[in-house]
Amino acid sequence: MKFFIDTASLKEIKEAEALGILDGVTTNPSLMAKEGIKGQNNILKHYVDICNIVNGPVSAEVISTDFDGIIKEGEILAALHPNIVVKVPMIKEGVKAIKWFTDNGIKTNCTLVFSAAQALLAAKAGAAMVSPFIGRIDDSNWDGVQVIEQIVHIYGIYGYKTEVLAASIRSSLHIVKCAEAGADIATCPLSSINGLFNHPLTDIGLEKFLADYKKLNG
Ligand code: E4P
Repeated sequence: MKFFIDTASLKEIKEAEALGILDGVTTNPSLMAKEGIKGQNNILKHYVDICNIVNGPVSAEVISTDFDGIIKEGEILAALHPNIVVKVPMIKEGVKAIKWFTDNGIKTNCTLVFSAAQALLAAKAGAAMVSPFIGRIDDSNWDGVQVIEQIVHIYGIYGYKTEVLAASIRSSLHIVKCAEAGADIATCPLSSINGLFNHPLTDIGLEKFLADYKKLNG
């Protein structure tokens, strides 16, 4: 499974990249706002800065909701760097735009997906990635991981090439469950990636190994 980091923070992206296990980045307008990135030029520059840190797909989201606006924005974003993937919302105009981008060689990530029905539409339109928001699905009293399983199953039946990108990850356990469910990618906060390292028996075992070594070697 590929690991993406879900942030617009250059500091966090650099920290995750330094681990040597990072495959890409996802951002959204809320994450950009959290970093205080405002104004079209600054936003575009920030995407380029991210692309210069990570050698992998970087999702940059459009804010238009009409076909023409999405296409115009997406073309500008895609021209920034070869790693840019245009993130398009799961709405009718969005699906039409995804099909247009697919036909014109521009990669897309269909975002704000909450059901297998929506994921089916994204795959039909040729999205490179589909982003089911599993944490937000859990919040609505449904099982986000179950939705991932359903999408992976359907895509497998028909051989759709769209990658299943588990988004809205809230914990390290979410990452493991998504791996079990067959997600191609998990996009995670840095805290959830770091949480994967933790096991008390590793700490206890290492402490003992080092103490035993010290006993004999000083
Ligand atoms: C990433 O592509 C999504 O925009 C993001 O994972 C949403 O996460 P949230 O539900 O924590 O805002």
